[in-house]
Amino acid sequence: MPHITLKKCFKEVLDNLQGENLFLGREEALLLVRGEEGTYPIILLPRGENTFLRLDKGAHFLDLGEVHVILNRLAQKVGGEVIHSTLDPKARPKTPPPTYATPRRWLEGGGLRRLLKDHERVDVEIGFGNGEFLERLVGQGKAAVGIEISNWAIKRALNRLRGKGPHIILKAPGGWAVKWLFPPESIDALYILFPFPWPKRPSRRLIQAPFVQTLAEKLRRGGRVILATDHEEYAQQMRILFSASPCFQEGESPEEIDTKYLRKWISMGLAIHKMAFIKRETPSAMDPRFPYLQYPVKAKVNNPQEVMEAFQPWTLRPEGQSFFKVERIYLNLEKGTLLFRTTFQDPDLSLHHQFLMWKEWILDLTPTWGETVPPPLARAMESMGKWLAGL
Ligand SMILES: C[S@@+](CC[C@H](N)C(=O)[O-])C[C@H]1O[C@@H](n2cnc3c(N)ncnc32)[C@H](O)[C@@H]1O
Repeated sequence: MPHITLKKCFKEVLDNLQGENLFLGREEALLLVRGEEGTYPIILLPRGENTFLRLDKGAHFLDLGEVHVILNRLAQKVGGEVIHSTLDPKARPKTPPPTYATPRRWLEGGGLRRLLKDHERVDVEIGFGNGEFLERLVGQGKAAVGIEISNWAIKRALNRLRGKGPHIILKAPGGWAVKWLFPPESIDALYILFPFPWPKRPSRRLIQAPFVQTLAEKLRRGGRVILATDHEEYAQQMRILFSASPCFQEGESPEEIDTKYLRKWISMGLAIHKMAFIKRETPSAMDPRFPYLQYPVKAKVNNPQEVMEAFQPWTLRPEGQSFFKVERIYLNLEKGTLLFRTTFQDPDLSLHHQFLMWKEWILDLTPTWGETVPPPLARAMESMGKWLAGL
């Protein structure tokens, strides 16, 4: 993390920076500084008689030349003297190659079409790591956009792809970038190969239901999303979400994948899950068949048609004054999915939930849940599972 140490005590530095975008903690302060490429979060820490300025790791759009200029500007502003710096004092903002884009450069450069000179077919890889697969895409005469958040990976890819076919290396979080920087129906194939599975924090996973919907908007009809993971449960989640979407259909297993992580996991004897989903239709914004978040609940339902036929709006009173009501069910015959609209109410809480039932899964599709399901609702969902399984 680039840093400089200032000969100036912490309190004086804070006094000099009052009025800036400064957030005070007990032992440290966070300063947000606007640079050319975005906002730089800078941490200020007391170090004996001195103050230590460090770029916080939340800085996404890093340009070391610019960081150097910013930290030195701050030093001047507080009248401090730099006594140690990990940055080269001669460093100047570097001029990045035309193939490198931050979101700002991307937009200022006219977006995808201008940057890739109206190339008809554009493939995208999110999280390209060492860049070897991206290089292969570009080598096949396709225009490609590689999206990464790791500076190390970006640096390598810029070198690896220098002088090769049309491509852009975009520094941005993948889910965000696809949603905000690509026009509708502009992507031919999108690769996400071995994304982090976040085993303890699944809510951080990239492939979530809203992202699947974004992909349905951004892919061309007939375009493919290609996924690979070694993580069994994440693989299941991917398959459920894409299968549940009316916009995608599973295609043949993609053979073209070869990456560093693929070889690594194979050499460790792990099973690899590869899948491809073909875009069939573009979603309409209010499509009630489309899922949101997912919370698997244990239940096994064999015949959705029977559930549909047996359905009567029903109410369950899990305990006390709370009740849980299944209001309506929608059946998607083609996919074999059922969507339930429900209401849960107790004196403090009223929630409208949608559940999607697909094979042996019942998924809670309601967004912004946080991570815990309130216990009475969890019991109600379990009862719903039993009710379904008993039909
Ligand atoms: C496990 S590595 C896989 C690298 C490569 N795809 C492979 O198979 O060898 C995951 C990569 O995703 C990148 N990454 C993680 N979160 C990301 C995000 N939100 N947007 C873009 N890239 C991301 C990481 O920096 C890392 O390079």
